[in-house]
Amino acid sequence: MCGIIGYIGNKQAMPILIKGLRRLEYRGYDSAGIAVCEKNPAGSEICRVRSIGKIDMLADKLAEVTLNGTVGIAHTRWATHGGVTEENAHPHVAQDGKLALVHNGIIENYRELKEHLPDVTFTSDTDSEVLAHLIAKHYQKDTGTDKDLRVAVEKALSHVRGTYGIVVMHKDHPDCLIAARMGSPIVIGIADDGHYIASDPTPILAYTKNMIFLDDGEVAEMHPDKMKIRDLKAHEITKCVEQIEWNDEQAEKQGFPHFMLKEIYDQPTVFQDAIRGRYNLHEGTSFLGGLNMTDDEMRSINRVILIACGTASHAAMIGKYAFERLAGIPTEVDVASEFRYRDPIIDGRTLVFGISQSGETADTIAALREAKRKGAFVRGVVNAVGSTIARETDGGSYMHAGPELSVASTKAYTNMIAILLLYALQFGRLKRVTTATGQRMLHALRDIPEKMKMILDQSEQIKQIAIKYKAYPNFFFLGRGINYPVAMEGSLKLKEITYIHSEAYPGGEMKHGPIALLSDQFPIFAIMTRDQLYDKMRSNIEEARARNAKVILVATQGDEQARELADDIMYVPDTMELLEPLLNTIPLQLFAYHTAVALGRDVDRPRNLAKSVTVE
Ligand code: M6R
Repeated sequence: MCGIIGYIGNKQAMPILIKGLRRLEYRGYDSAGIAVCEKNPAGSEICRVRSIGKIDMLADKLAEVTLNGTVGIAHTRWATHGGVTEENAHPHVAQDGKLALVHNGIIENYRELKEHLPDVTFTSDTDSEVLAHLIAKHYQKDTGTDKDLRVAVEKALSHVRGTYGIVVMHKDHPDCLIAARMGSPIVIGIADDGHYIASDPTPILAYTKNMIFLDDGEVAEMHPDKMKIRDLKAHEITKCVEQIEWNDEQAEKQGFPHFMLKEIYDQPTVFQDAIRGRYNLHEGTSFLGGLNMTDDEMRSINRVILIACGTASHAAMIGKYAFERLAGIPTEVDVASEFRYRDPIIDGRTLVFGISQSGETADTIAALREAKRKGAFVRGVVNAVGSTIARETDGGSYMHAGPELSVASTKAYTNMIAILLLYALQFGRLKRVTTATGQRMLHALRDIPEKMKMILDQSEQIKQIAIKYKAYPNFFFLGRGINYPVAMEGSLKLKEITYIHSEAYPGGEMKHGPIALLSDQFPIFAIMTRDQLYDKMRSNIEEARARNAKVILVATQGDEQARELADDIMYVPDTMELLEPLLNTIPLQLFAYHTAVALGRDVDRPRNLAKSVTVE
């Protein structure tokens, strides 16, 4: 996820752009850049300044130069394609610096497009730079005297597959900015002193509350005092101007009261980002190119070890089920801080994955180094692009969850599971999974976002349950099979943001001791969806009920028997058993969130915790 800001009007652009970048920094903060069109007597010129790091670093650089101009674009980056370098930072330029572009999104066919630009020398590893050159190519092809920048943008975009929110400027059109949207948001603020363009309303609110939200396929041509918006067929359209009543603080969280809730709601979208372009439905397989292993090397693997901490280790436990079931490869999960001290058995046929949102968790880094030393194939499943784990592993995949700002991890967890499922399928298809089984799984994966939304729609009902139970000092979370790690994740979420004591157990283990704790003051939260262990789980819940424990259930939509067993119930849509955690965890995230709010906790910044644990 990246942040875009642009301005065209009668004020100096630079201060507006820098202020805007600061407001957008939560969207990405690995590098940033700014380009302003300066009008000189000899003609216009685009001046660009970029920097890696936070906006402060860019501001320091800008303090040493003067950028005069009333038209400009700027960008704060959260790297997806290409590492964190100044070369990869936006704006990207083309046509010897005459054209500049900022882009948010992913150009899926950028490799293909690159082949159609054989004469271009690329200066970055990004998909976005390809788009800048493609627009320039169409612009140069226009042989008329009045070259039309908008038409060039439209022609270039007609070849693009993927998502984009872009703003383009050209030195030969110093009074014009072109913006376009497909999948990545573009908001235009309309003010007396010009037009403001951004990825979300936050940086615009300081200037105007009158905003137009571009829809997919729309292209806006902006001048200081006028604007035209056209659809895909270049027909001019009239858009409704909306009044935005948010205050700055709320808008930063896109209207959500906390980052955690926003991130829970991000899940359907970022899940699609995680799987997009990584499978072939026809062949019933996935292909994560970053794995960097030949088919023969993959076939040679006889042990997989998944290394992670906290929430990532729960995702890893789900990955273990997937690897064993789909690929038939014995798979272990190690909490990173334990791994290196237990003298693990590793050889050249062992594949080790380090799983981490931040890519900076010290325990995980140390464990991966140990695995590397012992000769394993070491790969990463990481969210933060350019992080240590991403750099130190010999391959792997980014999970594309976007910046996760709440300390309690939510959307990174679901995307970790998505990637591990895809890897397990990729190995499985080389071994024992049939095309039909692979296709069935991929179809089910594609249905997940809609099903996630159905659960999110129950947030208000889950809130009422949370309020009812908020005063209980203890909870058990129970699950079996693939839902045991789900119970562990639900328990971790509850304890880290509410400070309520909770423990997770496999349902069948309760009777071996923990059941002694149960009473009407010790509720159990159980996952009892319709999988192969349904009847077993049901018996375990009956045992708890017999000890007067209150029962909250996560059950499959339509299961009326479950309702009879529960004091309170949350329903989830049906899916393949291996995919259940992607859905079953969401009610638990919402329960923890609403309980924390009801208790007045600092949801996004819980006590004693840090987002990234960089000490062992
Ligand atoms: O950045 P990582 O995924 O490596 O972080 C691992 C854990 O520190 C993290 O998941 C932690 O448990 C979260 N606070 C859970 O919500």
